[in-house]
Amino acid sequence: MRILIAEDDSTTRTLISLVLKKGGHQVEKTTNGLEAWNALQQPGAPTLAILDWMMPEMDGLQVIRRVRSLPTDRPPYLIMLTSKTEKMHIIEGLKAGANDYLPKPFDAGELLARVEVGRHNVEMRGALADMNKELSRSKGELVGLRLRLSMSEHDERRRIAASLHDCSVQDLVAIQLGLNQAVQMMETTHPGAQKILTECAALAGNNANELRSLAYDLHAPWLDHGGVLPGINEFAHRFSERTGICVSFQAPHSIPRMLQIKEIAIYRVMQESLMNIHRHSGASQASISISVLDQELHLSIRDNGRKSGISRKGKTDGMGIMTMYERMGAIGGKLDLRRSSRGVSVLAIVSLVEEIYGKN
Ligand SMILES: Nc1ncnc2c1ncn2[C@@H]1O[C@H](COP(=O)(O)OP(=O)(O)O)[C@@H](O)[C@H]1O
Ligand SMILES: [Mg+2]
Repeated sequence: MRILIAEDDSTTRTLISLVLKKGGHQVEKTTNGLEAWNALQQPGAPTLAILDWMMPEMDGLQVIRRVRSLPTDRPPYLIMLTSKTEKMHIIEGLKAGANDYLPKPFDAGELLARVEVGRHNVEMRGALADMNKELSRSKGELVGLRLRLSMSEHDERRRIAASLHDCSVQDLVAIQLGLNQAVQMMETTHPGAQKILTECAALAGNNANELRSLAYDLHAPWLDHGGVLPGINEFAHRFSERTGICVSFQAPHSIPRMLQIKEIAIYRVMQESLMNIHRHSGASQASISISVLDQELHLSIRDNGRKSGISRKGKTDGMGIMTMYERMGAIGGKLDLRRSSRGVSVLAIVSLVEEIYGKN
């Protein structure tokens, strides 16, 4: 391997160089601390260095401290080779960032053995750095994939909602109107059939309402058009009417529009939380609040329910809550779920700074 020597005494320098070359290494020689420091800063510098302590221009300890302050995921392996052999010196050298410490005069076999340890260490660190790079690349890909998945789910929901609303709901409303007309026409002639038709008309009307609600649950047009505030306001209002649970909503007059993916994530967290309140909590009241603090949006949803399948630390195996965590994770947000004697609270925090995600 390529090894840098920093040694001002020419005899010792030649000796170290001979030993290393005999051990099959390539050697780069420097004669003072400043030269060594300049060489070690260069891109592609040797990844192992043997440094004397006392040298002109800059001592070995200073070189080590400077090298250790460089930001790198592949730090060089530094061996101090010095006649300063007292315990306090060894401690000082290691504290400054030396990986190893060898006293002068040195034994050739020991020096080569220690260089071998260094080579192994450098290789391991290199492999670790490669793995870390690969890991963060895969993490980035995973986040991108989650975001794409979330967007295509949104598009699919919109498509299904539009088809439910435009075809099925309209047809059912037309059937209901037709049946009601028929009922009037049969008022005197077929009283039995009239009763059946009245029931069918009511059934068609109920189905149209159910499908309309389903379409709005699948896709919220107010969210796309007006953003998070009108989206939540409209959903909460409809939710109250449907379930009888009183929902209060507190928010600033306006908030900045965010990337669509973030707005969808916030909306879905609110939707899942309210649906959970309806299905699991037994609550009579729920409150939603939105606030903006230090470039972050805080969404909080609380209920006054007594029942709960959530542990005190907010743990549950449910798909709905797991998906909430995933959605928040994909947009770099945080989710906190808590249960207390007063009910369940959900807090979602999302950054309002958009540049990490680019434009949607
Ligand atoms: N607001 C709430 N009040 C009481 N229990 C809740 C509440 N939200 C969630 N839970 C509990 O957490 C579980 C998991 O919820 P979730 O992941 O949304 O799945 P699901 O709603 O499909 O059961 C629920 O089954 C319920 O026991
Ligand atoms: Mg749920």
